[in-house]
Amino acid sequence: MFPEDLIKKRILITGANGMLGQRTIFNLALAKNYELLGVSLEDEAVFSNVDYKCVDLTNRDDFKQVVYNFCPDFIINTAAFTNVDLSETERETAWKVNVKGVEYVAEAARVIDAHVIHISTDYVFDGKRGPYSEKSRTNPLGYYGRTKLASENVLNTSGVFNTIIRTNVLFGIADSRPDFVRWVVSSLRAGKEIRIVTDQINNPTFIDDLVQAISKIIEFKKYGLYNIGGREFLSRYDFTIKIADYFQLDKSLIKKIVTEDLNQPAKRPLKSGLLTIKAESEFGFKPHSIEESLAIMKKELSL
Ligand SMILES: NC(=O)c1ccc[n+]([C@@H]2O[C@H](COP(=O)([O-])OP(=O)(O)OC[C@H]3O[C@@H](n4cnc5c(N)ncnc54)[C@H](OP(=O)(O)O)[C@@H]3O)[C@@H](O)[C@H]2O)c1
Repeated sequence: MFPEDLIKKRILITGANGMLGQRTIFNLALAKNYELLGVSLEDEAVFSNVDYKCVDLTNRDDFKQVVYNFCPDFIINTAAFTNVDLSETERETAWKVNVKGVEYVAEAARVIDAHVIHISTDYVFDGKRGPYSEKSRTNPLGYYGRTKLASENVLNTSGVFNTIIRTNVLFGIADSRPDFVRWVVSSLRAGKEIRIVTDQINNPTFIDDLVQAISKIIEFKKYGLYNIGGREFLSRYDFTIKIADYFQLDKSLIKKIVTEDLNQPAKRPLKSGLLTIKAESEFGFKPHSIEESLAIMKKELSL
């Protein structure tokens, strides 16, 4: 064994209190061969087993200082302004976090030669001809998608070792906010009617599968652009039916609507989804089926 194999790799995770960030920390901490630092906006972390620092990504000097002090080998950037509708009206904030923030991540990473793993989205596409490969032409419909595409461009021109992961519709285990699955389960158990769109198609991504991909990117030192998504391509309505079936809930409470009925400020890509053949063939990405994912959630969350 070479001495460098005995040194633990350092990984800094931004958005540490967010849905993906906290689960990334949880899983990487289990691996025990990394030194981890989570950073996010709140004063305190939702976890206690890993070091944490409160820092605003958009405060360039503060953020860089945190990075230089820790000197990570990898920066996993899960932080983002993720509210798609608010991004239409709060454009300055969305740009500041999603684009300027990534510029600061890249600037800091370049100085210490850290590898940046950045999370992007299928919202860089217009949803006319999905599912999409890594080679498909981008054309975001809304401001959130525009900021995320701009964030990819920042990294691509930064001269920093980087990997960009595009993903869609995250669901899974996270304490920060209930995901779609938990919302469906709690609503139906409470006897509440829910209105679900039939015209948004994608391949929902189990968060643990995305973390699996991140771990493999670290392990195999993969650079470039990768799609990560689930095994099944289906409408949000069909996804909801699967959840109700699995948890044996009353499906008559699930009402069909179309996206237009919601009158949301931001347009959604309708026929979307991400093909994952590149990740499967290059680093053995193997997502769970929706049923398998729900079984894991049921067990871990006692749902
Ligand atoms: N969720 C999805 O379905 C989905 C789909 C496709 C792609 N993605 C992408 O996946 C990534 C993770 O998404 P997520 O669902 O885990 O998001 P999330 O739960 O909203 O978490 C985002 C995190 O970023 C932090 N953050 C926001 N502004 C910050 C700032 N100025 N400085 C430092 N931290 C800041 C937030 O802190 P606070 O908690 O304090 O606000 C939060 O912890 C994002 O890049 C998102 O674009 C998500």
